[in-house]
Amino acid sequence: MIKLPGLIDPHVHLREPGATHKEDFDSGTSAALAGGITMVLAMPNTKPPIFDADTLDLALNAAKQKARCDYGQFVGAGPDNASMAASLADKAAGLKMYLDSTFGELRLDDMTLWQPHFEKYPKKYPIVAHSESRSMAAAILFSAIYDHPVHIAHISLREEVLLIKAAKEKGLKVTCEVGPHHLFMTSSSPSGRGQSEGRMEVRPRLATQKDVDALWENLDVIDCFATDHAPHTVAEKDSATPPPGFPGLETILPLLLTAVSEGKLTLDQVIEKMYTNPKKIFNLPDQPETWVEVDENAVYEIKAEEQFTRCGWTPFEGWQVKGKVRKVVLRGKTAFEDGKILVEAGYGKNIRE
Ligand code: DOR
Ligand code: ZN
Repeated sequence: MIKLPGLIDPHVHLREPGATHKEDFDSGTSAALAGGITMVLAMPNTKPPIFDADTLDLALNAAKQKARCDYGQFVGAGPDNASMAASLADKAAGLKMYLDSTFGELRLDDMTLWQPHFEKYPKKYPIVAHSESRSMAAAILFSAIYDHPVHIAHISLREEVLLIKAAKEKGLKVTCEVGPHHLFMTSSSPSGRGQSEGRMEVRPRLATQKDVDALWENLDVIDCFATDHAPHTVAEKDSATPPPGFPGLETILPLLLTAVSEGKLTLDQVIEKMYTNPKKIFNLPDQPETWVEVDENAVYEIKAEEQFTRCGWTPFEGWQVKGKVRKVVLRGKTAFEDGKILVEAGYGKNIRE
């Protein structure tokens, strides 16, 4: 049995408000606990998006009623809410800026719209940028000009990890995360595993083997492992217009522990990237008397039917993994044990209160 700290996922989509048929604070935080994660930071591309005091209250009130693990809520950067977003900073996990197209309506096209956010958002919190390839380079330039830390979400490309490496060597305030699907899948592998094309839609897209290799070769540049848990139902994924996104909360730790057992990374790196670094980057509080017990020798197959996420599928269906979460203790209470959630809805705490 291995004991880990309560893990932190700084990038999840819990779909509340607006799309609770995909997920809500109850099912999403249950999935987190089952995955060994005791703190999640929720993204703002909901319906409505979280972009002002009222919509932030909407999300935080739902979370207060329903969350079973601890949580924070990001505010989204819109075309004209920079002062409002900055005024909410102490109640929010951070500011999320969408600089490239993805699910939701928060994309900021014109760079003049980025500027007030970089000027006004308090520097003690990073701005999280969904920015791929050259827009990532632009986000790092903004960070340098305005001397504001930026955290690059879900990097997937060789060119991205190499530019971040160079930026860090220059002392720029940039951090980044990578998602499990970008570490364990390529654009050509998944169809061989029997998944439909719609199910494989995700942003950023799955990349080439060369990109995946570069991520593994530069693990020291990667600050966090974050799921980008983005649940959409099976019916939606198998429709003519499949929305992008993979669930990931219940599979990230077994996948990483399997890689540990194969000598691809160390347990210390898992703890650094899923606890120490996200805690520091996002200014997150301690969770006293909190830990995760893992049976590192349990070998089993990933199965969607055993998951707590409401979306009903996983891109890792049938993958054999080694390492199972047995028990999660959150603030002194056993929250998950042997496949069962043991804390009630509402036990989760807002990390900014
Ligand atoms: O694949 C994705 N799905 N990428 C994103 O950036 C958004 C996410 C979602 O919200 O579904
Ligand atoms: Zn996301």
